[in-house]
Amino acid sequence: MKNITILALAAAFSFGACQAPDTKSETRAEPETKTAMVTDADLANAENTPAEWLTYGGTYEEQRYSTLNKITKDNIKNLGIAWTFDLSTSRGVEATPIVVDGVMYVTGAWSIVHALDARTGEELWTYDPEVSGEDAIKGCCDVVNRGVAVYDGKVYIGVFDGRLEALDAKTGKVAWSTVTVDQSKPYTITMAPRIVKGKVLIGNSGAELGVRGYISAYDAQTGEKVWRFYTVPNPEKKPDGEASDKILADLANNTWGDTGAWTTDGGGGTVWDSVIYDDVNDSVIIGVGNASPWNAKIRDPESNGDNLFLSSILALDADTGTYKWHFQTTPRDQWDYTATQHIIIAELPLGDDGGNRRVVMQAPKNGFFYVLDAADGEFISGDAFVPMNWATGLDENGRPIEAPNARDTAGDGVMLFPGPHGAHNWHPMAFSQQTGLVYIPAQVVPQIFQDEVIPSDPDAYWNLGYNLAAGIPPAYPAGTIDALRKGNQGFLLAWDPVAQKAAWTVPHDGPWNGGVLATSGGLVFQGTIKGDVVAYDAASGEKLWSKSVNSGALSGISTYELDGDQYVAMTTGWGTSFALSAGYEFVSPVAPDVGHVISFKLGGTTDAPDGMAAMDDRTPKGDAFGTPEMVSEGLLHYSQNCLTCHGPLAISSGVTPDLRWSYVTGDKHEWEDILMNGALKDNGMVSFKEQISVEQAEMIRAYVLAQAHMAVANGEAGPAEE
Ligand code: HEC
Repeated sequence: MKNITILALAAAFSFGACQAPDTKSETRAEPETKTAMVTDADLANAENTPAEWLTYGGTYEEQRYSTLNKITKDNIKNLGIAWTFDLSTSRGVEATPIVVDGVMYVTGAWSIVHALDARTGEELWTYDPEVSGEDAIKGCCDVVNRGVAVYDGKVYIGVFDGRLEALDAKTGKVAWSTVTVDQSKPYTITMAPRIVKGKVLIGNSGAELGVRGYISAYDAQTGEKVWRFYTVPNPEKKPDGEASDKILADLANNTWGDTGAWTTDGGGGTVWDSVIYDDVNDSVIIGVGNASPWNAKIRDPESNGDNLFLSSILALDADTGTYKWHFQTTPRDQWDYTATQHIIIAELPLGDDGGNRRVVMQAPKNGFFYVLDAADGEFISGDAFVPMNWATGLDENGRPIEAPNARDTAGDGVMLFPGPHGAHNWHPMAFSQQTGLVYIPAQVVPQIFQDEVIPSDPDAYWNLGYNLAAGIPPAYPAGTIDALRKGNQGFLLAWDPVAQKAAWTVPHDGPWNGGVLATSGGLVFQGTIKGDVVAYDAASGEKLWSKSVNSGALSGISTYELDGDQYVAMTTGWGTSFALSAGYEFVSPVAPDVGHVISFKLGGTTDAPDGMAAMDDRTPKGDAFGTPEMVSEGLLHYSQNCLTCHGPLAISSGVTPDLRWSYVTGDKHEWEDILMNGALKDNGMVSFKEQISVEQAEMIRAYVLAQAHMAVANGEAGPAEE
């Protein structure tokens, strides 16, 4: 009942807000005793207090649409940097800044939390949960974090190593800390916690390395667990004593066989990003991730089942965590087609009577845009939002019609798009109430899926059941890298969710561009992988303004207002899964310490942080050695063990050292000390002595040196084109 009252109020307010929002009179009540005294009512009413940015997606509906409109199409030319804050990290940064009571709460890499004065960027406190460098190996996608939740005087952080912690918002001191995962397994947390009815909701990541996915709710005051929902069965298909027991028994267990690698690797289905609260239907709606291992033949050889609830959107009861409905986007996923991507709730003119219908929207990795009924998950419509070859369309129930060769991974395998980086990844979308369009950071990044060619090593950190060296030759002619780069595209797509078609598209310089913010100033903001922050006319896509910030501008963007100034804020940094594992796309030289918080306002005159410094000298540090067979085998071991951090083709994008130019390659003993003894383990380079032998380490060194000498011969050793 309470929610309905708040909603009615919200509706009344937002009508007025469309005309001329007076955000000052609509800020939350002044805090009395606690700093950041955000309540459930504040969260429900967040849309009407746009001077602050209270939650990860701005509001419960996570539209990332703000009614602040001091920055307009006419004055945006005066937008400049108000302040910057150095996050002191050379690893990936993905956080959306939260702003409450004039304080910005934001995270850098390694789950480090900063409280900053939102007017000046001055640091108020910093909290470092001291994640061990050795835990970096547990992550698929860099030691990133997408931000905090703020509620009732506390700041909540999901820590990379699986802790959930509550900090005093005033001091940054730990109020409580609880471990949410089995830390002996490769679980990590990168997502922002969400607050729903006095509970903190948190999922986890790790399906590439072998875990079983779930989401849990903890009491925000005490840190006690309230409920947990597992998204896939346990190997015995027995009850866990959790909220998921009944529905797994009723619906999911029979969609899995009794044998296969899922019984040892956890099955996957991690809830690693999108969790939203539908306060009208009192549902928590979550996006569920890919399978573990990826290859369905190895994962579940005896059944041909859908493997519920992989790659699904799931609605749960907010109080108990029990099942309400689900919609599976990719049945029997075997391409890393997660459905964890940003979920938005909106009212769209899709009602039977011509009125509005409350819908859930998602653009998951598989390339289809879905519109579902928020109350029961009914499939309303869906269509491809990018070019794709894995499926030819959706049937009337929204089930993909797979291309005949989509599962032909034997022999030479099959090249499919989207690939595992997805048609859309974690970078948040936005929905403008003004234009009715959804703005999607979309991309086309193909991938060859080929069954593994060396038997899977149970000790390997990554176990996908596929050959990670697929399509990568040990040697290639000059020009190959450029050609590969051109095969990948990225664009900002304005999608009409009612008509299910593009309204406009702006091409970018490559894939993996930033999250989007829409404002009632008629603007859409997005950062790019090349380090520009750009504003577009939300209706036409016309580029109105841009500013270089000299680092990957990938995070979600928030906006807030203080002393009559509207600010637009984001985090920047070079890293994330794409930079680590697809480095060859952007060989842009990158220097350490490139992560920043950047806040813009009209008339801002602060300089952008310094640009990226040139990379090390690009000459081989040892002679080439080894037979062609040794080099080829080195490629396989490199791909299985090193590629995900040091890049394919042994080309790094600068987050981790480019091994081709490393001095260590010229020294067998130092190489061995790092690889086998873990000499650099505290910095994220753990020992591989359980994974590879000394001989295999030498094969990898031979491969890396061969790549260095070939790059010089091909004239590709110099810095890439800018
Ligand atoms: C989880 C990510 C990760 C994986 C996987 C990984 N590395 Fe590293 N590696 C790093 C990081 C981070 C550094 C930088 C460490 C530092 O700054 O001290 C590094 C540094 C190195 C260095 C030192 C280079 C230099 O010049 O300082 C070598 C050699 C190396 N790695 C080899 C390998 C090999 C070979 C593999 C595969 C068997 C591998 N790494 C797998 C993250 C990784």
